[in-house]
Amino acid sequence: MSEHKPLRIAVFVGTKGRGSNLMAVHAAAQEDRLSATVCLVVGTKADAPALLRAQEAGIPVAVIALGEGYDVRLLAALDAARADTIALAGYLRKLPEPVVERFRWRIVNVHPALLPSFGGKGMYGHHVHEAVLAYGCKVSGCTVHFVDTEYDTGPILLQRTVLVLDDDTPETLAARILPEEHAAYIEALRYLAEGRVSVKGRRVRVAKRD
Ligand code: GRF
Repeated sequence: MSEHKPLRIAVFVGTKGRGSNLMAVHAAAQEDRLSATVCLVVGTKADAPALLRAQEAGIPVAVIALGEGYDVRLLAALDAARADTIALAGYLRKLPEPVVERFRWRIVNVHPALLPSFGGKGMYGHHVHEAVLAYGCKVSGCTVHFVDTEYDTGPILLQRTVLVLDDDTPETLAARILPEEHAAYIEALRYLAEGRVSVKGRRVRVAKRD
């Protein structure tokens, strides 16, 4: 048992995402596979499918519209929910600098490829898998990384690989990677919950369990 306090995770979702990573993290927390509570789900538009899923599951949501004072309103909602960790799940924007600064090494993202390849602006969803197949890669996978103020550039916590098959389409590849994303995200959050993570430059070390 970890003597650390359970994480209070705010999950940031996008306008189009299904919310599958959100629900995987929430389920792990509910079932005590992860010492955490999803204390808030944050989106920019009220009709985002992932926000609706969160509401159905009884998780508090905050709709924070973009525009003037976005960073201040975000921080206020995070403080009100007493969030100590942020997990991006389909949130495709850069985070405002004050948020990154306040939550340094407490913000993670999951990306559906092996960074630093196939990341950066515009590399999301099917675009990623199309690019992996067009390049002819033999492996792909997912990356859980810390978030800084750029796209997909923060230090890497965890990667999982899958083989690319000769007859893969972007859809079949995405479908094989998605469960790896869920497992990787939960595992990485568990490292944080257990206080085992240290960051030095770009290198992230995960201490062995006591
Ligand atoms: C996932 O593929 C994740 O890697 C990327 O956005 C997608 C979100 O999917 N960052 P979901 O909404 O969690 O199902």
